[in-house]
Amino acid sequence: MHLLSRCSAALLCCLLALPLSAQSTSTPRAPVEAYTLDLSQGSATTAQVRLLPAELKAGLKTLVLTGALSSDRNGDFRQIRDLCPNVEVLDLSAATCTEIPDNAFLGHRGLRKVVLPQGVKRIGRQAFFNCKNLQEVVLPSAVEIIEDGAFNGCTALRKLDTSRATLRNVGFAAFEGVPTAQLPQPTFDLWAKAAQEKYSLIPYPAQLEVQQGKALDVSRIGKIEAAPELANEASYARRILRDRAGLNVLRGSAKVQLLLDATVQNAEGYELTANKKGIVIKGSTPAGVFYGLTTLDQLLTAQPQSLEPVKIVDAPRTRVRELMVDPVRTFIPFAELKRMVTEMARYKYNALHLHLVDDQAWRIEIKKYPRLVAESSLRPAMDDMQYTSPGFYTQDEMRELVAFAAQHHIMVIPEIEMPGHEVAAIHAYPQLTVGNKKVPVRTTSGVSNNLLNPASEFTYQFLFDVFDELAKVFPAPYVHLGGDEAGNPPLDDWTTDSACIALKEKLGITTRDRSENWKLQKYMFDRVIAHLRDKLGKTPMFWYETDFKEIQPGCITFAWRHGLTKTAIDAARANKAKIMLCPGEHCYLDYPMDKGDLPEVNWGMPVTSLKRVYELDPRWGQDDEFERDFLFGVTGTLWSECMPQPERVYYQAFPRAMALAEVGWTPQARRNYDHFLRRLQLIQADQLRRGYPSSSRFAGYDQLRKEEVPATHSK
Ligand code: ACM
Repeated sequence: MHLLSRCSAALLCCLLALPLSAQSTSTPRAPVEAYTLDLSQGSATTAQVRLLPAELKAGLKTLVLTGALSSDRNGDFRQIRDLCPNVEVLDLSAATCTEIPDNAFLGHRGLRKVVLPQGVKRIGRQAFFNCKNLQEVVLPSAVEIIEDGAFNGCTALRKLDTSRATLRNVGFAAFEGVPTAQLPQPTFDLWAKAAQEKYSLIPYPAQLEVQQGKALDVSRIGKIEAAPELANEASYARRILRDRAGLNVLRGSAKVQLLLDATVQNAEGYELTANKKGIVIKGSTPAGVFYGLTTLDQLLTAQPQSLEPVKIVDAPRTRVRELMVDPVRTFIPFAELKRMVTEMARYKYNALHLHLVDDQAWRIEIKKYPRLVAESSLRPAMDDMQYTSPGFYTQDEMRELVAFAAQHHIMVIPEIEMPGHEVAAIHAYPQLTVGNKKVPVRTTSGVSNNLLNPASEFTYQFLFDVFDELAKVFPAPYVHLGGDEAGNPPLDDWTTDSACIALKEKLGITTRDRSENWKLQKYMFDRVIAHLRDKLGKTPMFWYETDFKEIQPGCITFAWRHGLTKTAIDAARANKAKIMLCPGEHCYLDYPMDKGDLPEVNWGMPVTSLKRVYELDPRWGQDDEFERDFLFGVTGTLWSECMPQPERVYYQAFPRAMALAEVGWTPQARRNYDHFLRRLQLIQADQLRRGYPSSSRFAGYDQLRKEEVPATHSK
């Protein structure tokens, strides 16, 4: 190994092929003796990861740690997972720690071989979840506990010798998908215990009556009958029978009947009855029948062989149940968007909101403006994560997503921000901003001063062209226009510019300070909204800000800021707009679910606990008129500044998105947090088994695991 001095760092960057942005970052230097580097291997040996210079971490291939490993919020494990994505060989044989923490390497795509410290006794929940390239783990003999999901999704892991370990606790779905022979079996039958809650339904239905009579022998289902308009739902039903009851071939006299019935009141409502003769699901639309099927899927999760007679009459409380994902800050591969859709459908979500552009990248192909993806679709770095996140969606991919989501009765709503959060577009087309400034795409979180220019006709032409192209891709009747965080102080960009001053004069705005700059934003919104409504037939949506004192009637405004929900509701009602509830206190799922939970390193996010999400009553203390005429729905946000691996979007979403689904669907009188937690046990276990990670940081997760039951059922 060569011992390198710090002044060789620039040379090293070239040899390790680090991104340019990483090379130019200036960071405090560690003492010379804190690490050794071997250029030929791209390897480093050090006591702790934080001693390595920041710009080197992203390029390392081999990392040897020799110190006492820290699992603090920015300790060794977080640093390896989030700052060293290319490490292939991780040698911890000379390091010390007694446990590999929960989620330690969740979604790490670089790792191929890991040698664990001798003293490790516990391997935490989801510690190696979806380490897809991991081939070998050297497990010390001290290991006693392997927690739920520890190696779940490690589909290349062929060398894992557990024979020397004295395992006394092996968790649920710890080795799902691992091809190694002779894996240890779970020591505790979590599934059998959780399945004792027969009606593990989330969201819980409006009415459920257990009926008298004999149970349905599910293996006797021989037929699915459905009208031709329900062909999509019939194929979903076939999938459910195959996945839940193992029915590849249907034979027997019982049947599943899917019926369109106009007497079912709510367009998304359904009635489900199960008895010994079969299952009948009725809805007035295919969507209603589909929601009945998602309920059937959950019924069969707990009762796959013998389904007790039951009658369920159900309908949603709110019109739109939405999750918002952010493929800008961390790109979400197309296949993962589809996986998100299938998962959302299980909990009766009906809208996926795609935040497609921001300061850090532009992620959607626009044919008339090819420089957007050519020059701005690679996010160079994100705060301390000094590596790229490249990628964009083609319009054809988005059409495919829209069609796929429609099969799951989910609409896809695109968001194009204006006038702020548009640095990536401005980078590609500087004429979009005041003063034609050429600016780099942003490499940190936070808010930029660069806004779209309200006084330039090019801005309007650009926005109209973008929305015209998107209208041909996304048939949803809604388009989100952003509108957040463009007020104080960034609107100052508009205070001194001569064209903006001239526009103010034309509009009769007499103030020359910043106090009425919001009227320029209103002017921009008015023109774009008119285009969306009159030319494209779309209803605009935007994030509510108190700076902008007039809400355009008929729009949908999102109440998101902590402490301002009532203000947003009052403003929406006064302006005859509808309100989407996503108050930060309850709905920001990108915030940690518990203190110390992921993302450990962030910009000071508050905690949004599972209980806090569940406690949201979408009525928000208002009257019947509010619920009927103004409440549009609920949204959970998943901003991705601090989610560098694709798996993290699920980890942040779940289980809170299940709680939010119930907030949006279930009548308030039918909701109870303790009951929700009991139903969650099976649903969350099933989700882990199917390869989705989630957070266990809530009171109740461990409850079930404390009660010993014999391991009889190996699901
Ligand atoms: C937002 O969180 N900036 C809407």
